[in-house]
Amino acid sequence: MSILFSPFNIGPLDLPNRLVRSATAERMADGDGRPLPPLKNLHTELAKGGVGLIITGHMYIHPSGKAHVEMTGVYSDDLLPDLSQLANAVHDENGRIIVQINHGGMNCSRETVDENFAPSAVDQPYVSRPAREITRKEIDNIIQAYANAARRVQDAGFDGVQIHAAHGYLISQFLSPLINHRNDEWGGGITERMRFLKEISKAVRDQVGSDYPVLIKLGMIDGIQGGLTPEESLEVVAALEDMGIDALEISGGFSGGRSLNIRKGIRSQTDEAYFLHLAQRARKVTPLPVILVGGLRSRSVMEQVLIDGHADLISLSRPLISEPDLPNRLRLGLQEKSRCLSSNNCWPETVGEGIACKCPHEKLTDKGKA
Ligand SMILES: Cc1cc2nc3c(=O)[nH]c(=O)nc-3n(C[C@H](O)[C@H](O)[C@H](O)COP(=O)(O)O)c2cc1C
Ligand code: SF4
Repeated sequence: MSILFSPFNIGPLDLPNRLVRSATAERMADGDGRPLPPLKNLHTELAKGGVGLIITGHMYIHPSGKAHVEMTGVYSDDLLPDLSQLANAVHDENGRIIVQINHGGMNCSRETVDENFAPSAVDQPYVSRPAREITRKEIDNIIQAYANAARRVQDAGFDGVQIHAAHGYLISQFLSPLINHRNDEWGGGITERMRFLKEISKAVRDQVGSDYPVLIKLGMIDGIQGGLTPEESLEVVAALEDMGIDALEISGGFSGGRSLNIRKGIRSQTDEAYFLHLAQRARKVTPLPVILVGGLRSRSVMEQVLIDGHADLISLSRPLISEPDLPNRLRLGLQEKSRCLSSNNCWPETVGEGIACKCPHEKLTDKGKA
């Protein structure tokens, strides 16, 4: 049997195989962040398609952190019945699903928030409009909002929660020396810049108890001049176990730097697994299970990453937009690699376009299906 289809555990969470659906913003919620029926259908399809663990697209933990239109919310108890329906739908298909929680900080769009804040005041070129400095009181409130959101995720019946600490959103802004210039206890060296993440992780853990899976997606490199480097992020990785984190998904890239994170033009196996070098370094400083995302397309590359021990789980975003049933197809030997062209035409450039999680090349890729 392929190692890809061997079981794995994240704490109390039993996974039937090593394939994870990486968080992918679905843009299938109404104006209040309430999930719409297509969201349930999408996740039911993913569960039927055989992926071992689904991570939802990022959900906003507070109205001030809504990153874009059509984003799902987890900021209010009013949303609990709809969120529960989503969890139940996946469980009915014997799937596992955890929720990624996020605050957009300076990267919330004009359409969703009246003003933006960041660890320090920020102007061009990193943001579409200036962001003011977040106050100490607001920091406390946002930490509490993360904890409340995690409690809702648990109450709604999901199998765990993932803290989004990548891609230039609020936690990633605190970690970044490019954005965080504070000279109080929330800024300075990496020890101070990771305090926000540390307090969020502790508050989340306090809310959900010791037996509930808490994961993190960590951006280990900003990829822009003056941004977070792997040397500094390794200090964060080393501290995650003490923060109460159960598993680490490794990513990178900052806002506007999607060329690093959602990389185009993956044509050969050497283009795949583009954050592998970070996983190799992270492994040396943490005993936590490692989840690798970024450009994984071929069965042989995925298997080799696991066999070499560089990661425990393989995470896929665009391949599962292209083919939600890819895990079953790999397991049954119907396919050796994803059909995703890494074109990024599934990334909506225009607000309201609403094409996330749909592959415009579907017709093309369907042609060759067995
Ligand atoms: C349409 C789209 C939406 C995404 N939304 C999120 C998200 O909500 N949270 C997140 O951590 N990453 C998000 N990502 C990034 C993916 O999870 C993943 O890290 C990246 O696409 C690289 O993996 P891939 O090569 O398998 O696509 C998104 C990517 C795409 C294409
Ligand atoms: S548009 Fe389709 S083929 Fe292109 S990256 Fe997105 S899922 Fe892959």
